Order: sequence, then C-alpha cells, then structure tokens
Amino acid sequence: MDKLIIRGGNRLSGTIPISGAKNAALTLIPCALLTDEPVTLRNLPRLADIDGFQHLMNQFGVNTAIQGTRPEDFGRTMRLEGTRITSTVAPYDLVRKMRASILVLGPMLARSGEATVSMPGGCAIGNRPIDLHLKALEAFGAEIELTQGYVKAIAPDGGLPGGDFDFPVVSVGATENALMAAVLANGTSRLTGAAREPEIVDLCNLLTAMGAEIEGIGTSDVTVHGVKRLNGATYKVMPDRIEAGSYACAAAITGGEVRLEGANAADMISTLSALRNIGLEIKEDAKGVNVAANGPLKPVDLTTAPFPGLATDMQAQLMSLLCKAEGTSVLKETIFENRFMHVPELTRMGADISTQGRTAVVKGPAQLTGAEVMATDLRASMSLIIAALAAEGETQVRRIYHLDRGYERLEEKLQLVGADIERVDD
Ligand code: EPZ
Repeated sequence: MDKLIIRGGNRLSGTIPISGAKNAALTLIPCALLTDEPVTLRNLPRLADIDGFQHLMNQFGVNTAIQGTRPEDFGRTMRLEGTRITSTVAPYDLVRKMRASILVLGPMLARSGEATVSMPGGCAIGNRPIDLHLKALEAFGAEIELTQGYVKAIAPDGGLPGGDFDFPVVSVGATENALMAAVLANGTSRLTGAAREPEIVDLCNLLTAMGAEIEGIGTSDVTVHGVKRLNGATYKVMPDRIEAGSYACAAAITGGEVRLEGANAADMISTLSALRNIGLEIKEDAKGVNVAANGPLKPVDLTTAPFPGLATDMQAQLMSLLCKAEGTSVLKETIFENRFMHVPELTRMGADISTQGRTAVVKGPAQLTGAEVMATDLRASMSLIIAALAAEGETQVRRIYHLDRGYERLEEKLQLVGADIERVDD
C-alpha cells in the first residue's frame, strides 16, 4: 500500500498538463455497447477506474485495445469493439469496486434488450441511490426487476419505445443512463430537469458523432429522436475540469503561479469565479488557464449546486484553500449528505473548521502543520494534499488508492511545478 509524503512550504510554479476527464471517460466508454462498430476514445486518463471499466467491457465480450502512447505521456487511446455481446451481466465483484459501472445499464438495455447490473451500493460520501436511473428507464418502456442485489432491466420485444421523464432531482448518472438508452429507442424521448454538466455535453457530442439525434444539448430540456442503429466514431475526451480546479487550489495555497495546460475555462466558470473572489488572478486562453496568487487570500461563502453552479467535487479542495484565507468562510454542501470527511483530518493539521449538518464554517488564516492523515474519498484526499503543500513540516497521506482513482500521476504533476512530494511504500 503506497503513501505520499509531502513537505510543505514550496511555492508552486510552472505548467501542469491536464488529463482527460475521469467523469466524462466513465460515461463515454459504455457507449461502445451501442454499436457493433469500433469506438476509439483519445485522451483517456491513466486511472484505476478506467482500467476497471475496460475489464468490465471485456466481460461483455467487447474487445478493447490500448493504442500505444509512450509511458511518459499523459493519457491513452482506447479502441473498443462491441461486435458481439456475449454477456449482459455486470457482476457484483466488478461493480462493487467501481460504482460508475451502473452506467452500462442504459446502453446495454438499448443494445441487447436486457441488462443485469449489481446494485452499486453506497460509498463514503453518501448512500448514492439509483432510483432515478430506474424510473427514467421505466419511463422509456423498460421493465425493472430487483433480485438478489441485482437490477435487471428488460425492454419490450422490438426494443424500447422511448418516453418522457422529468427529473425531480438533478442526477448526472441518471441523465447519462437515460440518454444512452434513448438514442436507440423506437420513438422520441424527452428529458426535463436533466443534468447539464460538461461531461453530459461530452457524452452527447460522442453520441451525435455516432449518429444519434439529440436536441437541447447542454440544457436541462433534452429531446432524443431514437435511431435504428449507431455507427462507430473516434472522439477525444474533454479535459478534466475538477483536476484543473484541484491544481488551481494547490497553486493558490502555496502563493504560486501555475498554468493549467489543456484546461477549458468554459467548463470551470463557477470554480474560477470562486478563485477570483478569493483573490487569485486568473487568465484564460484557448489552450489553458493561468492561476496566480495575488496578495492575501480572502474569505468567501460558497454553496455547491448542479452545473452551472459550483461543483460539489470542488468543495473539499476549496475548503483547504480557505483555511488560509484572512477571515471566516461558510461552505454549504447541497448535493451529498456526507461530504465533509476531510474536515477531521484538516483539523488535525491545524485547520479551524466547525460543521453543522451540510454547512461548514472555516476560520482563517490557520497555521497548518504536517500530520499523518488518512485519505477517505477521492476529493477529500486531494484536499489533504492541498493543505499539506502549505503546511509546516511533513505530511504523510495513507490509503492513496482513493487518489489514484481520480488523479493521473498526481505526484509527478506536482513535482513538475516544484512540490516536495514523493510516493513511498507504506
Ligand atoms: C457524478 O456522480 C460524479 N461521478 C460525481 O463525482 C459527482 O460528485 C456527481 O455526479 C455530482 O456532480 C461520475 O460522474 C462517475 P448524481 P452521480 O446522480 O452521477 C441523488 C467524483 O468525485 N440521486 O448527480 O452518482 C444523489 O444521492 C465523483 O469524481 C438520487 O437521489 O451523482 C445525490 O444526492 C463523486 N437518485 C444527487 O442525486 C438517483 O437515482 C446527485 O447525484 C441518483 C442520484
């Protein structure tokens, strides 16, 4: 089991290459189920969850090949070919390791007329229900059975008729499953209250490249005209807006200046606006975003919300940064019920944070000191790294497999801009 050792105090400076978006890749990969032609995805991040999804696709009989990029390069190209589907079951032992596996439900149902997926279960940040995924598929004409911890979805003979579904709660995953089911339905489907995250737009762009007919892309009111079949496509995954935002916080907390090469500012408006309000100088161009400290950090009040609001996946990282702001900040987490697990660990590093339900009050500037800390969920773990970069002394972060699920070659990227960080065997 690896751990990361960080010695704080270095001012970060230089360029960090931003990888392909994990949360886009995890919904683009299952699109290969929607056609018997090859789908080639470029700029895939080198992450454990991507490997896991490749293995899951092989389980269904989808041939996959990672086309060589040099080991030192960031990102990979994966060619997926679902000529013949030999299984429509996503087994428990694969799904329990990667809850995004639930995203095969819609496309497998659309392709094969049925799909059986182990219930993903909860995780550290919440119980992560999938009721909206199932209700959307039922609205499109699927029959849903829950047996022995598995969800089985069955389409009528002749395929899904399609239908309308109004999301009572914005759900990224449920919107993705619904879109991937609707594109091959016999009729037209309309989603209202749909999620609008950039990763959803990336999914719609791939589906359109494959021949799908989708109106209202990027809005919460999407209409899909089902088509008989989809063709293969080659598509480049969007840059990871959460990885970029995370490294922006890392640069900021060290008083540094970093260029986020490849980041797309248009995907990060709410994060960049928060960073500007905290006092950072942000410069955007067609190929990336520059983030520079520019005087003392200012406290701000932040509330997470579905896109275009502030991403819940940025809350923990911004909280670490705000530990060093000169004043009191209030952060409200509206998406998940248990997303403050970084707070006890930050407190052990000297942060002054109190929580009440889904509200956290951060008093700064705190004198952060290194400590032995434990990673819990992906973004909480990154918030500990960010705090460690500005802490006095050494921090050891254990259970960093959480980090490896979402940040491609994290320590190498931070070393590129001068961080004193190394990965060692625990
Ligand atoms: C996606 O999760 C992301 N994961 C999450 O990123 C992200 O935090 C989340 O969207 C919100 O932006 C991937 O894309 C793989 P939701 P998802 O369905 O789709 C409730 C990270 O760190 N809900 O939008 O699971 C749910 O409980 C991860 O990269 C239902 O009630 O999130 C939550 O309160 C963490 N019923 C809210 O909706 C459902 O059927 C938003 O969840 C589905 C969701």
